[in-house]
Amino acid sequence: MKKIIITGGAGFIGSHVVRRFVNRYPQYLIINVDALTYAGNLENLVDIEDKPNYVFEKADIKDKTTISAIFDKYGVTDIVHLAAESHVDRSILSPMDFVYTNVIGTVNLLEVAKEKWKADYTGHLFYHISTDEVYGALGDEGLFTEETRYDPHSPYSASKAASDHFVRAYYDTYGIKTIISNCSNNYGPNHFPEKLIPLSINNIINNKPLPVYGDGKYTRDWLYVKDHAIAIDLLFHEGKIGDTYNIGGFNEWKNIDLVMLLCKQMDEKLGREPGTSQQLITYVKDRPGHDRRYAIDAGKINKELGWKPSVTFEEGLSATIDWFLNNKTWLNNVTSGAYASYYDHQYENR
Ligand code: NAD
Ligand code: TYD
Repeated sequence: MKKIIITGGAGFIGSHVVRRFVNRYPQYLIINVDALTYAGNLENLVDIEDKPNYVFEKADIKDKTTISAIFDKYGVTDIVHLAAESHVDRSILSPMDFVYTNVIGTVNLLEVAKEKWKADYTGHLFYHISTDEVYGALGDEGLFTEETRYDPHSPYSASKAASDHFVRAYYDTYGIKTIISNCSNNYGPNHFPEKLIPLSINNIINNKPLPVYGDGKYTRDWLYVKDHAIAIDLLFHEGKIGDTYNIGGFNEWKNIDLVMLLCKQMDEKLGREPGTSQQLITYVKDRPGHDRRYAIDAGKINKELGWKPSVTFEEGLSATIDWFLNNKTWLNNVTSGAYASYYDHQYENR
């Protein structure tokens, strides 16, 4: 029987991966290992928390002793590793937090896996979830492929690049069975409202300014989070050991166009006059080191495993807005208390 640790399972993407694995694979035990930082929220998982094949362990991946004890307690067979500090703006303000969790935390997990599985690595998988941001920035043309040279610019992407290198090093050096996937920007239910889409939805609901960094022409590829969870499930079961896979939405948007679309959809859903929400758009000082454009070639996972996004951006965005409008308690719980727009508090010149 597989006993799978999913790290970061209380976070945005992790909660969708946990839910999918718990519901689809009653024969597996899913062990959600999460430190519950500001981004971890067990409310994301209320619908599955009583399932017999699910357990939660509050633990920090930086704490090797505790992670080792969890391995012993359950006889862990595999790891799907999502726990991370994930927000670029925070990484600019506090880079060491990103080094500690994303780099040292990942190496800790690799070390424990090496020690516990060393008798035979066969049948044990260390699946590392990463980002397209490790590849740096594109100009107007071109796409990131699995062969694109790493060129991270932010402390976040540098820390994720370092963690990817360590995972490959443990495959090359010790023979641990690894898979890495690098995905583009996710959006969807449970997204923490410090990132562009949920922040904008929350601010439109509350008639607050919509901060657009720089000239607003920075470009991202967006993928619905449930499609990322499907890809992770597929790669966990059918990915080639030692390989890297890019995952993307084939869905590029300039930030300003995306915010305009959000405003349009939200005006309709909130019954506001067309054009109301776009008046909230406020251009603000740019993010330092801001990558101009990300775009993914997800041809490999498509050709080899048949994966492609299941929803269009308009469908996914509409479902996301509906989720936020129908889950005001979740939103209020997340936005009350200590959290307010981190950017507002920390950057001057606003
Ligand atoms: P998130 O910030 O929403 O969630 C991160 C989770 O990790 C939280 O539950 C948090 O409590 C937990 N965590 C943080 N530090 C920890 C530690 N030291 N020990 C244990 N748990 C800890 O992040 P997300 O957006 O869901 O991203 C998940 C993963 O996917 C990350 O590895 C990220 O780099 C990667 N990724 C994210 C995106 C995206 O668009 N959000 C895109 C590609 C890849
Ligand atoms: P974000 O959601 O932080 O994701 P990432 O930096 O990992 O791509 O930002 C997405 C894009 O939106 C990025 O170009 C920065 C920009 N942005 C804004 O213009 N305003 C905002 O308030 C935020 C949070 C981001």
